[in-house]
Amino acid sequence: MRLTFIINCILINLLKGNKYKVYVCICNALTSEDVRKLKNIGVCEPSSVYKKLGCAMQCGKCLQSIDEILQEESVQETKEQISFSKKFSSSLQA
Ligand code: FES
Repeated sequence: MRLTFIINCILINLLKGNKYKVYVCICNALTSEDVRKLKNIGVCEPSSVYKKLGCAMQCGKCLQSIDEILQEESVQETKEQISFSKKFSSSLQA
């Protein structure tokens, strides 16, 4: 079942010529890029993603993927957190 979903995503990407987009919601044709754009403007709930894009959850198979994208940290955020932690721990030791 999961393999069929992945194959469908690849086929849709190829048919539309979108080689670098990953479809996370087949029912509504939402891509990971769509979700990340909303995340960047502060959307943090999957239900808000559907609402902002003018659609609604249908089968629900994408819910976990959308949630994972909304929860993922950017590389820049992680680097800033590591930098802050190092500065904070060194100031405690001094
Ligand atoms: S894949 Fe998103 S609602 Fe079906």
